[in-house]
Amino acid sequence: MNLRFSDVNSVQTELEKRSAPLALVPTMGALHDGHLALLRAAREKVGPQGTVAISIFVNPIQFDRPEDLSSYPTPLDHDLALCAKEGVDLAFTPEASSLYLPDHSTLVTESLLTNHLCGATRPGHFDGVLTVVLKLLNIFQPSLAIFGQKDFQQLALIRRMVRDLNIRTEIIAHPTVREPDGLALSSRNRKLTPAHRADAPRIRRALLAARDLSHTGEQNPQTYLDAARHHLLKDAPSDFRIDYLQLVDSVTLQPVAKVTSPVTLATACFFDQVRLIDNIQI
Ligand code: PAJ
Repeated sequence: MNLRFSDVNSVQTELEKRSAPLALVPTMGALHDGHLALLRAAREKVGPQGTVAISIFVNPIQFDRPEDLSSYPTPLDHDLALCAKEGVDLAFTPEASSLYLPDHSTLVTESLLTNHLCGATRPGHFDGVLTVVLKLLNIFQPSLAIFGQKDFQQLALIRRMVRDLNIRTEIIAHPTVREPDGLALSSRNRKLTPAHRADAPRIRRALLAARDLSHTGEQNPQTYLDAARHHLLKDAPSDFRIDYLQLVDSVTLQPVAKVTSPVTLATACFFDQVRLIDNIQI
């Protein structure tokens, strides 16, 4: 059975033949167990008769570093084999030129939640993410779409866009899938040197150590940040650096003055040129 559809018209024709409910899992491919967990959650949600769709598209307009885009892995045949194995009904694999016309001139910009965390150091990144996600939601009009909590800010921004623009898709969050040593699965992990890979769980350990402070009733954000920073930097490799480390309100993503309502401690760190993100709810 053909699983793969590469242009908007053919995928929409196929969707008309498929039964509801429809779940969409947007990805950039190079699928790992984190993505597969989203696909399994999608199947669970729609049931055996429903439709599970994946999009595999390395969205050029969300890359702020050209070398990051050109080095992004694209093992499409392997990805499609994994999708078939997972019982995915349909994979949308458009070319950039078919999704973005040469004179396309409309972007989605969110202007509040974007200004923190990754948005502060990756200009234009979230305009690119929201634009492609809105396009995908319009093309598929799914009942539900599933996103990972690993990309905490992305998820918050998509929820905000769906709310603000009255999009009729339920957004479902999936917990972060991790390696046994705690490192969040990411297609970027394979770019780490063996030494950096062995050291990378320091990110998770630092977030856990900070979260442990909440058992003491600690309310000062700086205490959490200091604890996490200490663990991030202790005996770290010389080419390790923190891009950001912030404690923010879990919904508005604004920095908090006091730790009372649910907050999220989020970080992005570089091992040499490889940028990894993670977060924890406190
Ligand atoms: P990508 O990085 O391929 O991730 C696709 C989806 O998988 C996202 O929702 C992401 O949060 C989720 N994911 C990645 N690693 C995960 C993990 N370890 N555990 C759980 N979920 C995980 O995120 C994107 O692509 C793009 O920005 C996209 C939304 C597709 C728009 O281009």
